[in-house]
Amino acid sequence: MQLGSVKVLIVPNYHSMSEWVAREIATRVREIPHLRLGLATGSTPEGVYQHLIQIYYRTGVSFRHCVTFNLDEYVGLAPDHPQSYRSYMTNRLFDKLDLTMSQTYLPLGNSYDLMDECDRYEQLIQSYGGIDLQILGIGLNGHIGFNEPGTSWDSDTHVVRLTSSTRMANLRFFHTLSDVPTHAITMGIGTILRSKQIYLLAAGEKKAEVVRRLLLEEPCIKLPASALHHHPDATLIVDQAAISKVKW
Ligand code: PGA
Repeated sequence: MQLGSVKVLIVPNYHSMSEWVAREIATRVREIPHLRLGLATGSTPEGVYQHLIQIYYRTGVSFRHCVTFNLDEYVGLAPDHPQSYRSYMTNRLFDKLDLTMSQTYLPLGNSYDLMDECDRYEQLIQSYGGIDLQILGIGLNGHIGFNEPGTSWDSDTHVVRLTSSTRMANLRFFHTLSDVPTHAITMGIGTILRSKQIYLLAAGEKKAEVVRRLLLEEPCIKLPASALHHHPDATLIVDQAAISKVKW
């Protein structure tokens, strides 16, 4: 199905969404062993990673020639900090597959020179020829990566100040609000749009309103995910609960 220019795949629930995306990734890795995969953190992709690990153990599909690029990292957290996105990825995926540290990239959140780190990360992605398949979640306010409403659609990797709602949403991973970093490095919307193919994942009733806005409102910089309407190969994979406010 297609509304606007984002393709839409509706699946029954979170489990089927995760399974479908994991199978697609495994299929792509079999076809293109050197796949350049863009990855996301947050609650949404956790099921995808669990299914991918199961597929890896069941079928032996190998990731040893892949490279991965994550969307973002908190500023001020060392890679081995338990709440860093590097730790999230290591614990939930990287350590479980035949991937070595040298194939997996995230921005370095504790770099001395953050501007330089942003340029380095952007150039690193380009030096590999860009991302073949980017996985994205969507924030309640439509953010993708840490690109909050109002971010320019041609933005490259940059430092962002996190909005209080995003910090509150991420508080669940920290002890107190003051422990939640105030800034992050994120791929820009321009960086994301240069990926050859994009899967945007949304599951659960709480995503229903932002999915409605994405599919039924005019694309606009107030809704960062709506930039995907300008991408030639973006697919929203959505469960019944998250599409429940779209009537047609
Ligand atoms: P979530 O976050 O996967 O934890 O819902 C998505 C996002 O904020 O990008």
